[in-house]
Amino acid sequence: MTATLTREPQQVGPIAARLNGILARRGIDPAAAAAGESPAEPVTALELADARIPARYRRALAGHPQITAWADEITRAGRPGPGGPGIAEGPSLLIAGPTGTGKTYQAYGAIRTLLARGVRLRWEATTTADLRARLRPRAGHDTERDLKTLARSPLLLLDDLGAAKTSEWTEELTYRLVNHRYELMLPILMTTNLPMEQLRVTLGDRVASRLAEMTERVILDGPNRRRHRPT
Ligand SMILES: Nc1ncnc2c1ncn2[C@@H]1O[C@H](COP(=O)(O)OP(=O)(O)O)[C@@H](O)[C@H]1O
Ligand SMILES: [Mg+2]
Repeated sequence: MTATLTREPQQVGPIAARLNGILARRGIDPAAAAAGESPAEPVTALELADARIPARYRRALAGHPQITAWADEITRAGRPGPGGPGIAEGPSLLIAGPTGTGKTYQAYGAIRTLLARGVRLRWEATTTADLRARLRPRAGHDTERDLKTLARSPLLLLDDLGAAKTSEWTEELTYRLVNHRYELMLPILMTTNLPMEQLRVTLGDRVASRLAEMTERVILDGPNRRRHRPT
């Protein structure tokens, strides 16, 4: 599957720089690509996505059977389209387990698995701590628009759910985000290291009961990979 390059390669910024890196490794001149000349070898959606994935998870593969089964289901339910099936309604996934068991790795692995299968996918990713910072009302910034972008994105990764300090405001924010996706049945990939009872208390009943209905739960209970580095 190919994707059209729409960014200016000269644009300054880490994502543009990584895209240029991908192009250069493939022997493609970024200037020619920007001018609309067709590259010798097409850049795949997976390669483009890798430019947005944090370096630590850029080679992640979803190895857990429940997560690959989820990716199968999303792929099957995809709406047919000219560039491959597009993501449609589908179940959400909550990946729970202690710190360092590979939750974030599996979540990015799930996104990469879908892309590798040719699913046309727009996705957004944020930790809940970053979400709070991103949507904090501030002058000159349209936070409602940011919320809508996250609420309407075909796939949303919410990393470390319940990890940020909660207040009435964050509870309301999470409620609006989750409720919108609940109503439209848009999938959310979530990770948390809180036990379920604690997550319910942290998120509040309204969010927790919606998540319980829309979500399949995967428990990762392996070793803390950060302490067991291979030597
Ligand atoms: N299946 C895996 N194969 C290789 N490395 C992994 C795998 N799962 C996790 N890791 C690595 O282990 C570390 C911890 O994983 P991470 O997903 O950040 O944990 P968590 O989100 O559960 O705290 C990271 O450096 C990650 O890249
Ligand atoms: Mg994590």
